[in-house]
Amino acid sequence: MKVQIALMLGMRQLEGAGIAGASTDARRLLAHALDLPAERLFRAVNDELPEERHKRYLKYLAAREARQPVAQIIGHRAFWKHEFRVTRDTLDPRPETELLVEVALEAPFARLLDLGTGTGCVLLSLLAERPEARGVATDISEAALQVAQENAARLSLADRARFIHSDWFHGVEGRFDLIVSNPPYITEAEMGNLAPEVRDWEPHQALTPGGDGLGAYRAIAFGAFARLKPGGRLAVEIGPTQGAAVSAMLAAQGFDAPRLRQDLGGRDRVVLAHRPEVAAKG
Ligand SMILES: C[S@@+](CC[C@H](N)C(=O)[O-])C[C@H]1O[C@@H](n2cnc3c(N)ncnc32)[C@H](O)[C@@H]1O
Repeated sequence: MKVQIALMLGMRQLEGAGIAGASTDARRLLAHALDLPAERLFRAVNDELPEERHKRYLKYLAAREARQPVAQIIGHRAFWKHEFRVTRDTLDPRPETELLVEVALEAPFARLLDLGTGTGCVLLSLLAERPEARGVATDISEAALQVAQENAARLSLADRARFIHSDWFHGVEGRFDLIVSNPPYITEAEMGNLAPEVRDWEPHQALTPGGDGLGAYRAIAFGAFARLKPGGRLAVEIGPTQGAAVSAMLAAQGFDAPRLRQDLGGRDRVVLAHRPEVAAKG
């Protein structure tokens, strides 16, 4: 079978299964089956598809029909300026999280802490941008930390990154110029409304802390002040309706007037707060 025909059949199969973006997905899966970058697939459309590659492609299509996200099937995802390895143990890095990186880069930092690092995409993107900086990252998932360590090694950043298996700040020592986090923030009630790609395939503890979705922010707000140097910054990603609640938690812990930042869709996405230079506590 020609590559072009396989592509068309794959698109139809995914469309028939109700997959939004069926044609892009089929293209990415076929390119992966052929070990080609997706943008090179068009050069191969008139080639004969070898049997072995075809079998691989059919396996990927079946996984996608079962709603497994493309990033998990092909094993990687582009974020900021790099490719990150992604598995079933890690959150698939989201484009909106790039705002957290952008905000973090607005001021200098030498020591950085990333809470709930997942693939390591936030920590490692920041370290790659600041060659003098060093970072610590925590996660409650040992499997996710292994992936983050692999990503650090692949990006030649392992010597500047330390990974700790930890419940938020537990086992974290010293003070930092910058703390970043994209914690789980979906409410228990919202979990049922998520797309099957997210609900059934991404790690539950990466998506929700349960209850009202604010539990992780309570832990982070409570612990962050003491782990920041005076004048240090805390930047956290939030769900679009959580700005007021998270800002209030941070203000109550002594942070200077927390500010909200919006993503490209105009939704509140990041809260940025400072530990005052002259600390009232900590
Ligand atoms: C929304 S994901 C973010 C992952 C990554 N930072 C990103 O932006 O793609 C949240 C991460 O927090 C981790 N996590 C959940 N509860 C935690 C806890 N109590 N302590 C540390 N990490 C936790 C999850 O395992 C997951 O990797």
